[in-house]
Order: sequence, then structure tokens, then C-alpha cells
Amino acid sequence: MVLAPGGPGANARTAVVWEVLTAAIAEAQAAPGRGSAPLQVVDAGGGTGGFAVPLAEAGCSVTVVDPSPDSLAALSRRADERGLGERVRGLQGDLDDLPQLVDAASADLVLCHSVLHVVDDPAAALRAVAGVLRQGGRLSLLVGNRNAVVLARALAGRPDEAAHALTDPAGRWGEADGVRRRWTPDQLAELVTGAGLVVEQLHGVRVVADLIPSAALDLEPGAPAALLALERSLADRPPFRDIATSLHVLAVRR
Ligand SMILES: C[S@@+](CC[C@H](N)C(=O)[O-])C[C@H]1O[C@@H](n2cnc3c(N)ncnc32)[C@H](O)[C@@H]1O
Repeated sequence: MVLAPGGPGANARTAVVWEVLTAAIAEAQAAPGRGSAPLQVVDAGGGTGGFAVPLAEAGCSVTVVDPSPDSLAALSRRADERGLGERVRGLQGDLDDLPQLVDAASADLVLCHSVLHVVDDPAAALRAVAGVLRQGGRLSLLVGNRNAVVLARALAGRPDEAAHALTDPAGRWGEADGVRRRWTPDQLAELVTGAGLVVEQLHGVRVVADLIPSAALDLEPGAPAALLALERSLADRPPFRDIATSLHVLAVRR
């Protein structure tokens, strides 16, 4: 799979996820005896296709499952504009509907990005997500990091909210927190293992990108490229990984 120059991989906020996906897809495509059929990708909660459309552009056949008709309409327009209508399919539903919408053990890759926190029962939803993976298929899971919000509230001058986020069962900083749930790296690994998958990689996404005012980057020539390189270096190195805004897991169904 080749990502276009200046495409999704060039953004410090998502570069690490794209790099992991690119390598996972290349490996799946090169698997002995696989043939030349497109990889089957399911993007659960895929929205308007920020991941689905580039993956289709790279030759995958992508099914997006999302409850929002507006997002699915935007996805369809986006795919059609790029001549990818044949390779992108939108289905209305939520994570719990996956077993009814997608064949069990049929997908080479399932994405579940920035959506697991909204469901009532993340463990059950993740089991439903894992169920559509074929043996050897991989899950790409992106969630919010509890550690990051502890740090962010403290830096915002709200130590009481930081302390709340540290011990709250859902990792929320208070009643007004707009996010319903966050995980630490250990909690995330446990959740994925509980869904019957084996964690292969755990990365931090946006370790420092959200801590730097964008004006500072604008002032320094070359700073955005240096930031991208720094994010790549820090993403798999604790303790930096463990304070990133988001956590990304690549897991396999054995
Ligand atoms: C923050 S967006 C993320 C979109 C995409 N995954 C991405 O990373 O660009 C969250 C998406 O999850 C969808 N969503 C909300 N509740 C959901 C549920 N219970 N099951 C599946 N998707 C859901 C929303 O409609 C929205 O498109």
C-alpha cells in the first residue's frame, strides 16, 4: 500500500496510525497463497471515510459501518468523487450490529477508531468487532488515553479535575467532561485481550503534538517536519507513549 505524498501519513496527529496500518496491510497483501483479491477492511464507526477512502484508494475493499446517515452520505460522495464507489460500501448500524451486518470471520482488517468510548459496554462491543476478523486478521483500535487528560487538566490549572480523572472508573475529569470513557495503556491491553485478540503493538498518538501551540510551529521553519519526526520517535517509547492524547493498538486474531 502506498500513501500519497502529503496525504494522511504527513500529519503529525495521525502519522503513527497510518504507518502501522501501512505495514499491516503490506504484510497481509504479501501473505503466501493469498492471491490478488483486495483485502477486506471493515471500518467500524468509520464516519465520513477519513480512513476508509485512503484505504480504498490503496486497493482495499472497505465496508464502513456507522449509525449516522449524514456521515454515510458524505462518505458515499467522497468515494464517488474519487471514482472509488465500487470499493467503498456504507452500512448503517452501530458496533453491536456488526455480527448482523458483516459475515463472521470475513475481514482481513477491522478499524475501530475514536468510537469505542461512546458505547455502553465497550468489552461487548469489542467482542463484536473482533468476531468479524478472520483468523490472522488484525484490529486497529484508537482510543483516548486517561493519562493524557490527567496531565492536560493539571496543566490547565485544574488539579482537582486531574485527580478526579486519575481515579474515576471511566477516566473522566468530572460531570462536564464531554468524553464518556478513556483507558490507560494497561487497561486497553486488557480490554483487547479480553476480546480474544493478541496485542502486537501499542503506540501513543500525539505524544506532544497537542501540547505545542500551533503558532509556535508557524514561527519556526521546519518545525512541523521536526514535530512529525519527534512523534514517530516517541510513539513506542514509555514513558512518552503513555502520556499521548490517544492510544493505538494493533492486535491479531490467532
Ligand atoms: C469521532 S468519529 C470517528 C470517525 C472515524 N472512525 C475516524 O477516526 O475518522 C465517531 C464516529 O462514530 C460513530 N458512532 C457513534 N456511535 C456509534 C456506535 N454506537 N457504533 C458505531 N459508530 C458509532 C459516529 O457516527 C461517528 O461517525
